[in-house]
Amino acid sequence: MNPPTPLIPDSAPFTPEQRAWLNGFFAGMYSRSSGGVPALATAAPAALTPLTIIFGSQTGTSEAIAKKAAKAAIKRGFAATVADMGTFDAGKLPAAKNVLIITSTYGDGEAPDNAKALHAALSSGKVPSLIDVRFSVCALGDTNYTHFCKCGREFDALLEKCGATRATARVDCDLDYEAPFTSWLDAALGALSTSAGSATTTPTASTEESSEDSGYSKKNPFPAPVLAFRPLNVTGSAKEVNHFEFSLEGSNLAYETGDALGVYPQNCPDLVSDVVRALGCDGEEAVATSEGELPLRTALTVHYDLGRPSQALIDLLGPVAAGPAAAGKAPAIRDVLDLLLGAETKPTLAAFIATLKKIQPRLYSISSSPKAHPGQVHLTVGAVRYEANGRKRKGVCSMFLAERAMAVGKAGVFIHSNSNFRLPTDGSKPVIMCGPGTGIAPFRAFLEERRATGAKGKNWLFFGDQRSTTDFLYRDELLTMQQEGHLSRLDLAWSRDQTEKIYVQQRMIEQAAEFFAWLESGASFYVCGDASRMAKDVDAALHKVIEIAGNRTPTQAADYVQALKNAKRYQRDVY
Ligand SMILES: Cc1cc2nc3c(=O)[nH]c(=O)nc-3n(C[C@H](O)[C@H](O)[C@H](O)COP(=O)(O)OP(=O)(O)OC[C@H]3O[C@@H](n4cnc5c(N)ncnc54)[C@H](O)[C@@H]3O)c2cc1C
Ligand SMILES: NC(=O)c1ccc[n+]([C@@H]2O[C@H](COP(=O)([O-])OP(=O)(O)OC[C@H]3O[C@@H](n4cnc5c(N)ncnc54)[C@H](OP(=O)(O)O)[C@@H]3O)[C@@H](O)[C@H]2O)c1
Ligand SMILES: Cc1cc2nc3c(=O)[nH]c(=O)nc-3n(C[C@H](O)[C@H](O)[C@H](O)COP(=O)(O)O)c2cc1C
Repeated sequence: MNPPTPLIPDSAPFTPEQRAWLNGFFAGMYSRSSGGVPALATAAPAALTPLTIIFGSQTGTSEAIAKKAAKAAIKRGFAATVADMGTFDAGKLPAAKNVLIITSTYGDGEAPDNAKALHAALSSGKVPSLIDVRFSVCALGDTNYTHFCKCGREFDALLEKCGATRATARVDCDLDYEAPFTSWLDAALGALSTSAGSATTTPTASTEESSEDSGYSKKNPFPAPVLAFRPLNVTGSAKEVNHFEFSLEGSNLAYETGDALGVYPQNCPDLVSDVVRALGCDGEEAVATSEGELPLRTALTVHYDLGRPSQALIDLLGPVAAGPAAAGKAPAIRDVLDLLLGAETKPTLAAFIATLKKIQPRLYSISSSPKAHPGQVHLTVGAVRYEANGRKRKGVCSMFLAERAMAVGKAGVFIHSNSNFRLPTDGSKPVIMCGPGTGIAPFRAFLEERRATGAKGKNWLFFGDQRSTTDFLYRDELLTMQQEGHLSRLDLAWSRDQTEKIYVQQRMIEQAAEFFAWLESGASFYVCGDASRMAKDVDAALHKVIEIAGNRTPTQAADYVQALKNAKRYQRDVY
């Protein structure tokens, strides 16, 4: 990445000393190729207000906006530094004075992996008093989850409990985070700039991207031609996982293995027709959207989210005929159509449209190495189909890709960088990868990348799925890599080839001695796939492996795992 030009122009309101420091900051920020952060230790000139922006992030969103926040803060005269919670020493908090926390929530209301240690340190109450610290929290989350923004809410409460003063109220951001994040940052920088130092009082915290960042992005997705599509399961499988290849030619988009691709879906035409009918419309009615006026059918296809209804739509349509879900059962209302069909009266079109949320992109772990497939990006996507309340349901994006992307010809995409999921920079180090089901995606990319770069380190893959005959995703590629010796070990777990379930974690425990020997020789361990069950069980198996083969107590094993995380040798891309 090249530094933005000019960095700090001579016309900017800084002394030469401040300008030199700021230019150094930006040079540091841009000299790191894989999203590294400027060194926290860099001394700021005394006149600038210090600001430490600490991010907790699983898949890179908080990290990216923490960097944007730093740029905006620097423009307003702060000596801002960005710190990864995973490596931030809680003992340094009291000296930080002005702190912004930006964190997502993961799992079932849990902290992202890199935030767990700081969260635990603050919860333990063993950090020194934060009486001199002023702070504000930006929580990222998703209202589709029960524990919306729980981790950010907890950091907010913990910092206050440890004696810090809240400079401005926390903001809880849904997936459409840009506007609330910008308003929060503006307010937080305004409040913190009044505390000390020479931070300027420029009213708006611009988070506009520099010219280097502009081009295709989440806000401006690249219409990527779909080059190829093929099913990865064999006929007779209960699963449907598809391989997609998109062209990035002419987009100027670049990615690293470990990154995800954001894909903008289009709603299913049948679902759109059902919604149009339920509204008593014909689909040709003009509707005002943020992208201009569109016919209703088009707006419902490309612009609006027809999934889980907003609270505004629930309020508009009143008590629902279908009633609340019975305890332990799936909710009766899963999507906008459920609500419309259950409503006693039809809403006016304008009132209905005003309650809709914008359709959100879905993320997919990239399954190609850019070195192996220049100008292309590949995905491995499991088709989501299920039935609820007597109606067949289709996952919006996975089914758009499976059923219509080839015919439409293009999909709006952007790169979602994830510096928390990276191969070791030293290619001689061994890697162990665990990716059952679609979790194989980034490991196909890792293996391709290590082959393309001639990395000499050994590669060990744990893969599993339901049946060996129908669900061995990328079978030929993986077996070829094994025959060539590139894949040093391939351990497979077929859950339904026999009466009792066999999962990847059982294979890990069977191979505990060798697994531990690889860890001891410097291996990194990567996990990708299902977050709710698999990743938790694999984590427990990792502890077990260390206890059994490393002869450690459970507490010592937990310390060993924490040390792996701190060294970025245990990374997870789970969803
Ligand atoms: C960082 C990251 C990387 C990812 N990588 C991949 C990847 O490589 N491959 C991949 O396939 N996916 C991946 N995903 C998941 C992907 O982003 C989508 O969530 C997935 O494709 C489903 O999206 P959809 O639009 O098809 O489904 P949606 O329309 O969003 O519907 C999904 C929802 O449907 C409901 N649902 C699903 N199944 C059932 C069921 N059986 N019964 C009742 N309700 C159900 C659940 O509420 C679920 O949340 C990744 C996610 C993240 C965050
Ligand atoms: N959060 C989201 O947005 C989102 C969206 C889509 C999918 N997902 C998750 O992603 C997963 C990916 O689906 P997929 O089809 O690729 O793979 P999967 O459902 O995870 O199945 C892959 C293999 O893992 C096995 N498995 C089941 N439970 C396990 C456990 N506790 N530990 C280890 N292995 C286990 C499965 O066995 P059996 O099937 O025989 O039990 C199967 O053999 C889905 O299960 C879903 O939970 C999340
Ligand atoms: C597996 C998974 C679990 C999640 N759990 C929650 C949750 O419990 N509460 C919430 O508010 N958001 C949850 N989210 C949404 C994320 O917090 C949100 O997508 C956020 O923008 C991710 O930021 P990050 O990339 O910095 O981690 C979850 C997302 C995923 C993929």
